[in-house]
Amino acid sequence: MDLQEIYLKGKKKLLKSGIKSASFEAMCILKFCFGVDRHELIINPTQKLDEQAKLRFFDLILQRANGRPLQYILEEWEFMGKNFKVGEGVLIPRDDTEILVKTAIAHISSIKSPQILDLCAGSGIISIILAINFPDANITCLEISENAIYYLNKNIKLILSDFYGKGSIQVIKGDIFSEKTLHKFELFDLIVCNPPYIPSEDIKYLQKEVQNEPLIALDGGPDGLNFYRMLTKKWKSQIKFGGTLAVEVGKGQASNVAKLFEEADFKNISIKKDLCGIDRVVTGKNE
Ligand SMILES: C[S@@+](CC[C@H](N)C(=O)[O-])C[C@H]1O[C@@H](n2cnc3c(N)ncnc32)[C@H](O)[C@@H]1O
Repeated sequence: MDLQEIYLKGKKKLLKSGIKSASFEAMCILKFCFGVDRHELIINPTQKLDEQAKLRFFDLILQRANGRPLQYILEEWEFMGKNFKVGEGVLIPRDDTEILVKTAIAHISSIKSPQILDLCAGSGIISIILAINFPDANITCLEISENAIYYLNKNIKLILSDFYGKGSIQVIKGDIFSEKTLHKFELFDLIVCNPPYIPSEDIKYLQKEVQNEPLIALDGGPDGLNFYRMLTKKWKSQIKFGGTLAVEVGKGQASNVAKLFEEADFKNISIKKDLCGIDRVVTGKNE
């Protein structure tokens, strides 16, 4: 089988298993296994391929057809122009989170050497993009999952090695619900968090791919708001006067989360929409 035959066979298998973006995904897996792109497929479709790589290609196509997320198969995914390593046990970066990062950037743009805490840091997409934008920032990432911490450390090493300025970035394993964790820290200019926010009962209705992602990264408790209660009630004490709490929220949660900010006496509460027009980010000031 030559390159074109392999590609078409892979695409057909994906289409048959109901994957709508079969052409794109078969192309990504082709590139991952053989290092060829669409251009090469067009100009040199009859090239012969390594047997081992062919076996790998069909094995990965089968995994994809069985619901393993493409991002885990490719071992990395792009977020805001950077490639983040991902795999089983860590949440896949979502474009939805871009607005949280942009909002966070706007809130600290005038602060010299900002102190930033990224709670529920996962693969590190938020803290790493902030570190690139604020090379003098001191950033702390808190995460409970060993698997996620593995990718977090890997991404810090791979992505920040070229960029790193006068600031610092540290990773701490901890539970945001533990009072002991809470009192470990100094005060911050910004606490940013994309917490698990899916209501527990809704998880079984999520797409097959999302169900392959870690439950601990998705489950926000009975109404999806458990983490926001903790953040607004307890973590506010770790924000400097004039500092900001910025959180990502699920579809339909923004007004309830804004209410929790109000109850905790945050000021200048604001809601921002994501690229699809969904209320996605809530911020408030500790004033
Ligand atoms: C929705 S993911 C967000 C990951 C990353 N910040 C992002 O935006 O892609 C939530 C993260 O919270 C972590 N997590 C869940 N429960 C936690 C807890 N009690 N304390 C700290 N981190 C927790 C999960 O392991 C997961 O990495």
